Amino acid sequence: MTETVTRGEQVHEGKAKILYATSNPDLLIQYFTDNASAFNGLKKGTIGNKGACNNAISSHIFALLEKEGFRTHFVDRPSETEMLVKKVEIIPVEVVLRNVVAGSLSKRMGLDEGAPIKQTVLEYYYKDDDLGDPMINRSHISAFDLASVENMDIIEEQAYRINDWLVSFFDRLGITLVDYKLEFGISPEGVLLADEISPDGCRLWDKKTGEKMDKDRFRRDLGRLEEVYTEMRDRILSIS
Ligand code: TMP
Repeated sequence: MTETVTRGEQVHEGKAKILYATSNPDLLIQYFTDNASAFNGLKKGTIGNKGACNNAISSHIFALLEKEGFRTHFVDRPSETEMLVKKVEIIPVEVVLRNVVAGSLSKRMGLDEGAPIKQTVLEYYYKDDDLGDPMINRSHISAFDLASVENMDIIEEQAYRINDWLVSFFDRLGITLVDYKLEFGISPEGVLLADEISPDGCRLWDKKTGEKMDKDRFRRDLGRLEEVYTEMRDRILSIS
């Protein structure tokens, strides 16, 4: 990145990240805070150094995905807590991939957490905090014009391929990638993987100890939050 980009006005504030305009109209700064929330904002707190850890983790994973040929919004990491990203229009559909039973799937299907799944499960959720992000399907997505059929075909195909790559990446770190959420956006270049990939939006279980290495520690009051985020950062950054 040769161009120097300066931070401008705030354009959006989410639960854990803030988006700022920049001096380049095609780029935004995604600022990672230490704020943590769960259960659709009912539980709130902070986790020391989480913003810097999640930015380091996400930036590293996006850069590796780009090397593999996946198209993402990632441009650069100008500071510990800032990610320079391409401006996209976020598609209001959260894509959840599941490799092992946990969380809401365990409740929905009446299965124990940790039960194996014979093939990856892909689910869609409507990104709407007021509605509590309800689960939807491709029929809802096209009926309510949330995204075009063509873009959803691209997203679905990309999501399964990203999953294959991420599962083997985490496997090398001794981590089971149980489930996680992806978001995509539309830019003049087409569909790009956006948002973040971090322990905030993933379930990551240590293969040896079974320890939860993700935001479930906050949701379930398991303690050792800062330590675990820092350890995940160090493990993830050890592979390039
Ligand atoms: P769930 O078991 O609560 O449905 O979540 C599945 C995974 O997706 C889990 O790793 C958390 C992540 N996720 C988010 O981070 N944000 C969301 O809004 C949703 C629906 C899931």
